[in-house]
Amino acid sequence: MLGRMQPKDHALPDSRRLWRIDRAGSLARLALIEERLAPPADGEVHVEVRAIGLNFADIFACLGLYSATPQGAFVPGLECAGVVTAVGPGVTTFRIGDRVMVLTRFGGYATRLNARAETLWPIPAGWSFAQAAAYPVQALTAWYGLVPLGAARRDAVVLVQSAAGGVGLNALRALQALGARPVAVVGRAEKREFLMREFGLPPETVVLRDAALAKSLDAALAHLGAPGFDVVFDAVYGDAFRLAFDRLAPEGRYVLYGAAEFMGTGRRPNPLRLAWHYLRRPRPDPLAMISANRGLLAFNLIWLWGEVQRLPAAMHATLELIPDPPLIGLERAFDDAPAAMRALQSGATTGKVILHC
Ligand SMILES: NC(=O)c1ccc[n+]([C@@H]2O[C@H](COP(=O)([O-])OP(=O)(O)OC[C@H]3O[C@@H](n4cnc5c(N)ncnc54)[C@H](OP(=O)(O)O)[C@@H]3O)[C@@H](O)[C@H]2O)c1
Repeated sequence: MLGRMQPKDHALPDSRRLWRIDRAGSLARLALIEERLAPPADGEVHVEVRAIGLNFADIFACLGLYSATPQGAFVPGLECAGVVTAVGPGVTTFRIGDRVMVLTRFGGYATRLNARAETLWPIPAGWSFAQAAAYPVQALTAWYGLVPLGAARRDAVVLVQSAAGGVGLNALRALQALGARPVAVVGRAEKREFLMREFGLPPETVVLRDAALAKSLDAALAHLGAPGFDVVFDAVYGDAFRLAFDRLAPEGRYVLYGAAEFMGTGRRPNPLRLAWHYLRRPRPDPLAMISANRGLLAFNLIWLWGEVQRLPAAMHATLELIPDPPLIGLERAFDDAPAAMRALQSGATTGKVILHC
């Protein structure tokens, strides 16, 4: 049997370190603790974590702004990578010593963990642990939003908001592989230069989210000779939403997967800012969508975590479409998790923020 080992046969160090928050509300409540970890149960794999990928959802969860957050105390973290050090009963797909990337429905900010075998994938050859930890959430998000939901295909004109972010970069890679025509939107000028260099995109199709956005979007569409966007892929929401939604072509799909503009960059949520954005949020009219022949889709990838049996095929399709390792930005030690989260929250990072164990 593939390296199968009963937990009792293997001398697992039974303690681990993890970042836990007792009650959502502020990043300052994160505490580094040590605890015992049980051996892997039926269908589980024990992973010694080497690198952890940070996500915006980790911050939203700690601030109490993420609907899927567990009640009470919890350990943040949706993905990591490491080495299999034991397998529980019934696991035949992994063996001790395998290098794996892992999706976790919370619990990823830990030096060791037990995870269901369906939530693990072998790390592609030549990738580092940091690259593997950076891949699953952002790449799956890009694939899920653009392919099954957005139905992006060859020649489709696709607007990608925050295109220099992790999901955005994966989206651009996926669109290049599909032969679609992207229009990239970014919040800072330096990201524009980066995208033109990295993807060879024409300057007209890489635009700043500033006061001239409406004009820039029209210029991008004119450059591509397109009447409107076939797909918009957006996690910013807010004011830019209306401009992009109004420029959807007939049969266009607006795929919304976040609301970054609601968030400030402070350590605590700003209730006034949130209320202001919430009350002013765009509410497109379904009846108008019928007349204009276009629509809005929205998703939270964590829903897919519950569909465990679908994850292997989803990850397979994602790796086929986006086979390149992701870009790594900031790398910090495990003990520096709160500082790394604040850097991510600032919106100034390019590439994935990683913790090394
Ligand atoms: N629904 C889901 O399942 C799902 C899954 C993954 C991610 N997401 C969401 O997708 C978004 C991007 O995620 P990511 O992993 O690509 O993150 P990332 O690599 O850190 O990129 C985030 C980008 O969002 C933009 N942004 C706009 N307003 C912001 C604000 N107020 N604060 C911080 N950043 C802001 C910034 O780019 P620009 O200024 O250039 O726009 C920033 O670089 C996040 O909002 C995240 O919550 C949703």
